[in-house]
Amino acid sequence: MKLLLLGSGGREHALAWKIAQSQKIEKLFIAPGNAGTASVGENVALKADDFEGIKKFVLENKIDMVVVGPEDPLVKGVYDFFKNDAEIASIPVIGPSKAGAVLEGSKDFAKSFMQRNGVPTAAYRSFNGTNIEEGIAFLETLQAPYVLKADGLCAGKGVLIIDDLEEAKKEFRGMLDGMFGEASATVVIEEFLSGIECSVFVLTDGKNYKILPEAKDYKRIGEGDTGLNTGGMGSVSPVPFADAEWMKKVEERIVKPTIDGLAKEGIEYKGFIFLGLIKVDRDYAYAKAGDPVVIEYNVRMGDPETETVMLRIKSDLVDLLEGVAEGNLDTKTLEFDERSAVCVMMVSGGYPQAYKKGFEITGIENVEGSVVFHAGTKLQDGKVVTDGGRVIAVSSYGATQSEALVKSFTEAGKIQFEGKYFRRDIGQDLLKG
Ligand code: AMP
Ligand code: GLY
Repeated sequence: MKLLLLGSGGREHALAWKIAQSQKIEKLFIAPGNAGTASVGENVALKADDFEGIKKFVLENKIDMVVVGPEDPLVKGVYDFFKNDAEIASIPVIGPSKAGAVLEGSKDFAKSFMQRNGVPTAAYRSFNGTNIEEGIAFLETLQAPYVLKADGLCAGKGVLIIDDLEEAKKEFRGMLDGMFGEASATVVIEEFLSGIECSVFVLTDGKNYKILPEAKDYKRIGEGDTGLNTGGMGSVSPVPFADAEWMKKVEERIVKPTIDGLAKEGIEYKGFIFLGLIKVDRDYAYAKAGDPVVIEYNVRMGDPETETVMLRIKSDLVDLLEGVAEGNLDTKTLEFDERSAVCVMMVSGGYPQAYKKGFEITGIENVEGSVVFHAGTKLQDGKVVTDGGRVIAVSSYGATQSEALVKSFTEAGKIQFEGKYFRRDIGQDLLKG
């Protein structure tokens, strides 16, 4: 089949890498892609949210399936755009409908969905310009730290975690006053969950589901999880504490009620669900110490989790995606690679604050035995140059997690560009037990 993948980051390179290995693929296109995706398929100069342009391309090139990487086109309704246009309605889009993408597009909706469907999540209330004083009073009933979330999409910047009550009140007013534009016209205030995070990925056809390998990502720029938040500095899979017993709880208490809730509420969903979970380390009203609690839904794969999760899927991903499109995912097999996979993200100097682009990247050809995924790169005059904050992900297998980590750190050392930086402590917190 001919498949079009939308997106341009490390997640999309990892998806493209896996899709290209399928026997079923005759031709893979990536729009817009990056310098890395060009090595496993053909890049198309179209933005992922240029729906009219995508329609034209899909018709001209007889595309059989569209897979959506990032949330933005999903929240803008790419699934419905196809479904409602007779010329392209028969071409499956892997991703939720616009109504399903609201699980990521609105934190207020996601929280109320979880409450209606009995999915354990932090206690919360939502506020807007009409009930500011109630929000202030609600903050006073909570214990520090205070968690404030802009309702809408903010490119990962809409969550504030604040220790001081007076400062939390000030930031709460600021958010409602337009700190994140329209996205913070509604603010969710929720209980702080203490524990350790884990990302769990589910592929669903709306009725059946498969739970993909779980992963843990490392969000802070500095070693020891210090400094500013980033898009993600690395990931590991499997996650040692996500053992069979814990994953059983995730399936029974979170995955099943989520899929059932979507069906019950008439929300079309044929794609990936990313569960941002916390294994809480104390008792809450809705979970005992050690249990999984949802902090958020995303309607796509994670980045840089995909750069390890794809390494751990042995089965043909395109076969699974066909199961999603055809509604018979239950007849498909999903086998995991039992090895450990890790990803170390190489970023531009200065990231996540101001950084420069356009530096030549050298040494990729010297990498042996690891998989190099491009995140923010582009081809310029025949050279690969930096084109983003997160530049290159070096993913490796190992019989153990430490072995995979040593491999990624060693291979990352062979790649050079001005200002390069990567965290050398990815996975260390888990190794200590
Ligand atoms: P989100 O955008 O909802 O993923 O939030 C960003 C990050 O904030 C999460 O990955 C967590 O590290 C943290 N976070 C969000 N909600 C909570 C919460 N209720 N308790 C503790 N940490 C949270
Ligand atoms: N790694 C977190 C995310 O993709 O949102």
